[in-house]
Amino acid sequence: MSAARRVDAVANHLHAAASVNAVDAAAYASDLRAMKMDIERFLDESNANPIMVRLAWHDAGTYDASKAHMPWPRAQGANGSIRHESELAHGANAGLVKAIGYLRPLKEKYARVSWADAIQLAGATAIEHAGGPRIPMRYGRADAEVGAMEGNLPDAEAPFGDGASDAATHLRNVFGRMGFNDREIVALSGAHTIGRAFKERSGTTNHGYGAKNGTKFTGCPYMNARADGKEGSIGMPGGASWTRRWLAFDNSYFHREKLTDEKDLIWLSTDDALVTDPGFAPHFKRYAHDQNAFFYDFSAAFAKLSELGSRFVVGASGIVL
Ligand code: HEM
Repeated sequence: MSAARRVDAVANHLHAAASVNAVDAAAYASDLRAMKMDIERFLDESNANPIMVRLAWHDAGTYDASKAHMPWPRAQGANGSIRHESELAHGANAGLVKAIGYLRPLKEKYARVSWADAIQLAGATAIEHAGGPRIPMRYGRADAEVGAMEGNLPDAEAPFGDGASDAATHLRNVFGRMGFNDREIVALSGAHTIGRAFKERSGTTNHGYGAKNGTKFTGCPYMNARADGKEGSIGMPGGASWTRRWLAFDNSYFHREKLTDEKDLIWLSTDDALVTDPGFAPHFKRYAHDQNAFFYDFSAAFAKLSELGSRFVVGASGIVL
């Protein structure tokens, strides 16, 4: 074959490969968009936004940048590994089996979409649906076939697994391993503006499942805790929240409502480190005064989190939604 014909053959081959990829990517993107609408409908009825965000964060937060040079998926991260029983059994993941159960029917309906994508799509959609910022991110992640190793997610209270003597050091160790700086740590922690802790899960509060075990903000099965003001069932009552309107994604976490509602709100030692540590405190104060700044930084940090350790196999290097 002449050199010119060889160049032509290679060009044709590349063109064909690109078209196949383009078709795949288009079909994949259309499934993702349809799945997102189903997730929105599900969230609107269930108010399960917080647990879907926690699921996405716990799948991604196992990432270890020091192992990034090793064969995938050794560095772990956002690769859907949390669906495996071995990983769901980690202490930090208590209760998350429920969130996987919520996603399973949608994953079956949109079989082409990977677990890793379904989990990150659900997390990002839950934030947006609760009134938070849009999180533009890449999709097309491959799924890992083994669960992650235990011990990479943060502990809420001492003794800390990494041997750190205080919560600020612990946060820098844990989030530093993922590649986050002080500002990103504070922004990401603002996710606690939604959601609750439960005695039966983390054991960080005496408030457990059910109306009678809740606080004045979580104990009534029908109340208005949402950003859009829609009243109705909050889902399962109980537990203790960080904020009063704990289904609304805003900057109220940074207003430290705990100070005036001592008995009825939770505040972990890792939350407190953000107020007392000189490196964290300026960001905390800024987000308290400026919700736009919080939304801007949170969106970027959450998108970064959601791509840690991901291997993109759709399109040239994933597709943006
Ligand atoms: C900074 C270190 C962090 C610690 C020590 C921590 C710890 C905890 C604990 C103990 C719970 C309660 C779990 C339960 O009992 O059900 C919780 C819930 C939650 N966390 Fe975090 N977390 C941290 C960071 C984050 C980050 C970075 C995000 C997301 C970006 C996040 C999102 C959530 C959400 C949404 C919930 C509520 C889940 C629900 O209501 O079911 N957390 N966290």
